[in-house]
Amino acid sequence: VSESRYERILDLCKRRGFFFQSAEIYGGVAGFIDYGPAGARIKANIINLWREMFIDSFPDLIYEVETPVITPEQIFKASGHVDHFTDPIVRCPSCMRFFRADHVLEEQGIPAGNITEAELMSYYDKGVKCPSCGATLGKPERFNLLFKTTIGPYEATTGYIRAETAQGIFTLYKRAYEVLREKKVFGLAQIGRVGRNEISPRQGPLRLREFTQMEIEFFFDPINISCVAQFENLLAEHLTLLTEGSQKVVHETVQEAVNSGTVSNLYMGCLMALGQRFLVQLGIPEENFFYLEVPKKNLPHYSRQTWDLMVKVDRWGWVEVAGYSYRGDFDLKSHAQHSGEDLSAYRAYDRPVMKEKVNVTWDPKVLRGKYGTRTGEIIDALKLLKPDEVLEGMRNGFVVAAGQKISISDLTIKAEVEKEYGERFVPHVTEPSFGVDRILYALIDTGFMEREGRIVLRVPRRVAYPQVGVLPLVKRDGLDALAKKKVEEIRRYGFTVTYDEDGAIGRRYARLDEIGVPVAVTVDYDTLRDGSITLRDRDTWNQVRVKGEDLEDALCRFLRLNAQLSELGTPFTSQGENT
Ligand code: GLY
Repeated sequence: VSESRYERILDLCKRRGFFFQSAEIYGGVAGFIDYGPAGARIKANIINLWREMFIDSFPDLIYEVETPVITPEQIFKASGHVDHFTDPIVRCPSCMRFFRADHVLEEQGIPAGNITEAELMSYYDKGVKCPSCGATLGKPERFNLLFKTTIGPYEATTGYIRAETAQGIFTLYKRAYEVLREKKVFGLAQIGRVGRNEISPRQGPLRLREFTQMEIEFFFDPINISCVAQFENLLAEHLTLLTEGSQKVVHETVQEAVNSGTVSNLYMGCLMALGQRFLVQLGIPEENFFYLEVPKKNLPHYSRQTWDLMVKVDRWGWVEVAGYSYRGDFDLKSHAQHSGEDLSAYRAYDRPVMKEKVNVTWDPKVLRGKYGTRTGEIIDALKLLKPDEVLEGMRNGFVVAAGQKISISDLTIKAEVEKEYGERFVPHVTEPSFGVDRILYALIDTGFMEREGRIVLRVPRRVAYPQVGVLPLVKRDGLDALAKKKVEEIRRYGFTVTYDEDGAIGRRYARLDEIGVPVAVTVDYDTLRDGSITLRDRDTWNQVRVKGEDLEDALCRFLRLNAQLSELGTPFTSQGENT
């Protein structure tokens, strides 16, 4: 085999229907993939695992919502994406091709991953060659990654395909806050498609123009941060962190990392720990992931601190599968300004606070008698007097309105002390944002094994699809009919299942191994006699014999509780690996 491992993985993905070039029959367009029968369901299983770990594990704390993909222009104006969601683009004046300016530098060996605009420009001022034709490239410009469309028949009604699911969450925040009866701390999650018009995506399945995000916007009061009960078991978890400017990863508990200020808030730290648990559940070894702090100069426009969750994949090195950002009050503040709506929450004081209130009134006739045509202007100014100014006026005998001293005797002032029980504030937000497609790729890359000239895809049992393969030893003597009954039975137990009767049993095991089916159930002549069946483990190729009535229990323990095959039945001499 002369192809690289990466090419063999892509070949497997295409041949067995995980994912492949979208619109293949028309030649395809870079940055889009289709998921086939195997990939679509593994992707769905990854999403469901995330749902279980990030949403369902936190009842009455984290909730799921769903908002449209097509988004009115105002939202992405307010979010800053219309102005700031750009990449540097450069065009070759000779061959007229477009390139992403920082990627061109990287391909020429210049580390441009964290480059500033000015640094980038200085390289291009000195002259950079076109990767395609060798001519000197022009000056980089900013290219906006939002996909633009029109909504309805009116050309002027601009819409965008959302570039992050987050904005839909911010724009329904006000409603959610009411629906959740003004909860103090809560998270809103959204899982869905987003689009980014990448300039020239060349990293195969890792840089897509359309992909699926799983995001949480976690809303909290920045001055009353305390650990919610459901997060408590995450505090002692160790995070693997590479801080800005540091050369070495450190392992700190969430509590330590927050106390030392390394991680900007407690909720972020807890959700980062959960992100690590998620990867472990997906079979990613601990040495193959860490959190990388994004340098301050490269932070997205909305972020105060960002940690990228990096996973190692064979062909591309470390890739970001999730970004954790502390967005502060950036988004809600901006949407409040642009929409004119109040997007604040209520903070109750520990004890009521006494506040002096003053109420100033006047008789316009009296004022007009004294100030004539200036009266209107003076009344406007009186309305704007601050309580302190009025109280000072009471001491001095006059207030100043529109530059005019107004005697206190011409005004009626009522001062009283009122109890205040709380105040309004704009909540802060911590956001974990996962890219499902990259996670699926990382999982296939991690699980791809070659053994005795065959491919075995060790995807974790709980996200594998199908979970069980049912095989009659031979396609006659009633073994096939009995095996088909087993298919129905296993489906009733709640597992996904496939049936295969074509060809030698060894070939059929090999086909199941390639798409990562964790366990095969084989029906043979003994099954006809006593109901017993064989279970075969994808990873070890070991087999055990299980009584018919124990099948459900065995599959549950194997697929849901990750039991060893040897715990499930009596060892069985291998049936047909090489036939
Ligand atoms: N919401 C963060 C991102 O889309 O990158």
